[in-house]
Amino acid sequence: MFNQLQAVPPDALLKLTVQYNQDQNPLKVDLGVGVYKDEQGNTPIMAAVSVAEQIILDQQQTKSYIGSAGSALYCELSANLLFSKDHQVIKDQRISVAQTPGGCGALRMAAEFINVCSPNATIWVSTPTWVNHVPLLAGAGLVLKEYPYYDNSTKSVDFAGMMNTLNTAAAGDLVLLHGCCHNPSGADLSIDQWQQVVALVLAKNLIPFIDIAYQGLGDGIEEDAYGLRLMADSVPEMIVASSCSKNFGLYRERTGTVIIISANSERAKISSSQLFSTIRGHYSMPPAHGAAIVETILNSDSLYRQWSGELTVMRSRLADNRIALATGIKAAGTERDFDFITAEKGMFSFLSISAEQVKRLKDQYSIYMAGSSRINIAGIATHNVDYVANAIVNVLK
Ligand code: LMR
Repeated sequence: MFNQLQAVPPDALLKLTVQYNQDQNPLKVDLGVGVYKDEQGNTPIMAAVSVAEQIILDQQQTKSYIGSAGSALYCELSANLLFSKDHQVIKDQRISVAQTPGGCGALRMAAEFINVCSPNATIWVSTPTWVNHVPLLAGAGLVLKEYPYYDNSTKSVDFAGMMNTLNTAAAGDLVLLHGCCHNPSGADLSIDQWQQVVALVLAKNLIPFIDIAYQGLGDGIEEDAYGLRLMADSVPEMIVASSCSKNFGLYRERTGTVIIISANSERAKISSSQLFSTIRGHYSMPPAHGAAIVETILNSDSLYRQWSGELTVMRSRLADNRIALATGIKAAGTERDFDFITAEKGMFSFLSISAEQVKRLKDQYSIYMAGSSRINIAGIATHNVDYVANAIVNVLK
């Protein structure tokens, strides 16, 4: 049986990390995979996370199973963080929530759930979108169609193109939206644009599916949830996939949440049963540790304050790095305007340079980024910003 298998290439983004680690150049810079880095290039464990881990270690009494939905307290607190605890969908018991193995687990379980509701449903995804959206959603049987999102020429959201295309979607189609910090472009919808998307979703009877993997790394914990909350205020049915990889720094602990909003509490009970049954048929139940950390933090006023303070430092560092890079590129001397980087949000921006220029940055300068020219803003630091800026200007010549 295995003799018929054809090899597939390794994931391009993950391969980049391997190449970076092997590179002996002391000046090398990693702007590839989306992990937060501090000024020294480390991805530290957040202090609030370490405190929570110690509490868990001291207090835990069992390693027994936790059930398909995961921890009930984690699910409750995670939903409160996303929607705010007095949101109507929570009060009306319209939500079904499950703890998942990372945001990927949430996306895949949501896609499997959709396939139970409506086999081979169509989901509209932004062009571009996070590369792993495609296998995660299509692998569950969903049919992917694309709507224009990022316009390379204006370095902003092609909102007219997006709306025109979504206007052609059929009733019952799903629309995948990035809650904040669009990956890979960093270009987010404005408040006014979110309002228009909500109106379109309602008018066309579309089902919003919001992937929010960077809450707190754009404008703030509450601000970054604006679009998600507005949508939840307005629509009868909706899906959310969230991740704690970035905002809690729990990458390898695989901690995420899938939420289904149903039209009423009776429908929500049925959705819950289907969601949990879907999970049981895939990985049975999620790993416990990451979610235990998150619930310990969210359940304690002092740990919450500590965590949100650390998140503010991370968010500010990303914003400062954006300014430093744009300023550095200007100082390095190019006609081309890179100020758009300062207006974008979260971990990523496109440099909008060619694949050949991306390759030269890697081969000549040991500066690593995705082939699309997406850069991880967190990889910029005081000690490398001029090096990166000069290299970018050099390959533009
Ligand atoms: C990224 O986009 O770089 C991250 O979300 C990591 C990943 O798994 O792709």
